[in-house]
Amino acid sequence: MKYSVINLLVQTVVASVALAAPLEKRAPKTLNLSFDVVLTNNNDTGVPVQSRDETIQIQYRDLQYKTQITMGSNKQSLYVALDTGSSNLWFPSTHVTCENGVSCKSYGTFNEKTSTTYKNLSIPIYANYVDGSNAFGYYATDDYYFADGTKLPNLQFGLITQDGKYSGLLGIGLEKQEDTPQKYPNFPFALKNAGIIDHAAYSLYLNKPDAQSGNILFGGVDTAKYDGDLTILDVANYPWVGVQVQSYTLPDGTTHELQINAALDSGTTYIGLIPSVGRPILDALGVDDSGYTYCDSVNFDDHLTFNFDGVSIKIPYTLLFTDQGYNMCRSRIFLEDNDNSGNFFGDTFLQNAYVAYNLDTLKIGLAQANYATASNVVDFWF
Ligand SMILES: *[C@@H]1O[C@H](CO)[C@@H](O)[C@H](O)[C@H]1NC(C)=O
Ligand SMILES: *[C@@H]1O[C@H](CO)[C@@H](O)[C@H](O)[C@H]1NC(C)=O
Ligand SMILES: *[C@@H]1O[C@H](CO)[C@@H](O)[C@H](O)[C@H]1NC(C)=O
Repeated sequence: MKYSVINLLVQTVVASVALAAPLEKRAPKTLNLSFDVVLTNNNDTGVPVQSRDETIQIQYRDLQYKTQITMGSNKQSLYVALDTGSSNLWFPSTHVTCENGVSCKSYGTFNEKTSTTYKNLSIPIYANYVDGSNAFGYYATDDYYFADGTKLPNLQFGLITQDGKYSGLLGIGLEKQEDTPQKYPNFPFALKNAGIIDHAAYSLYLNKPDAQSGNILFGGVDTAKYDGDLTILDVANYPWVGVQVQSYTLPDGTTHELQINAALDSGTTYIGLIPSVGRPILDALGVDDSGYTYCDSVNFDDHLTFNFDGVSIKIPYTLLFTDQGYNMCRSRIFLEDNDNSGNFFGDTFLQNAYVAYNLDTLKIGLAQANYATASNVVDFWF
């Protein structure tokens, strides 16, 4: 009850703001990038430390959001993971040496020798992986091409040439997370500086609950893709782009305080919580520390709700649990190794939400996703 009252109050306030946006009658400048939800295996699950990744078996929906990018004068194509939990664009060179036994070139490489616009900045980049190892290379710039043939000139990226282990990454988080003391405009800010969008801001949504694809809309908000109004939250003071989570509500209607910060991280597959926060939730869900329970004890009509300041997001049990066979079900919430890690709301959460990140104003718009084919794109108003 407490939350439904707060909901009403905040949504009334937001609604009046929301109405202001379409009245501007100006088509917002946007860039619509689609991505594939790709299952990965243990040889190519790689994302840097900041973006989390677990090497659990494939059938546990171990996945990445992958998008195609086109770089260089001769328009080379690469497939990179889209990551709101880190901030560098990087990918392997054609001349990369992969770590032993690893196929680090499987999602495409960049041949810097054949692009006439490639410039080596000679600034080192060490891409850190979850397992503690590093890939190494140098920052460079080259032109990024859009589907219509126009370009974003001199986009900075890291070209990995040594100890490559994983495929590339398009990190679209805050500049403070860039893996170098020499901060630079990363992809969202470069788009803004080039006048392609008006705000370093983007909206993320999947096309349906268990979608094989999704879209990221830079510079705009699609008001047809969520239920009710978008609730505007402050970006939390956290190493990654995220918000404060107030509490969670169980199927029996009880609400339990959390008051934690959590990254809204497209580079994380699950919801990863530090043990002191996650263990009581796993207990309440009736699963063990590894997330397992018997499938016949799970009521698939139930949902788990996470409550934020003014909005609640429901995660249906059909998406929260995966069937592992032999009557074993596993929750897609797992415990981080220790309390010094962080809380990461990845695909398990994001596939249920519409999330609009504004990196300029440090605000996040959040609502329950509505899987509609309709579209109504407006400018960021917050
Ligand atoms: C973005 O592109 C996808 C197809 O790739 C399309 O389904 C979607 O409606 C587009 N969204 C906007 C806001 O243009
Ligand atoms: C990972 O790579 C090794 C060595 O190339 C290979 O033997 C193994 O089958 C691969 N595992 C998966 C899950 O693809
Ligand atoms: C970039 O410059 C560094 C430092 O000058 C050099 O060691 C490296 O080989 C260059 N990388 C490429 C791919 O040209």
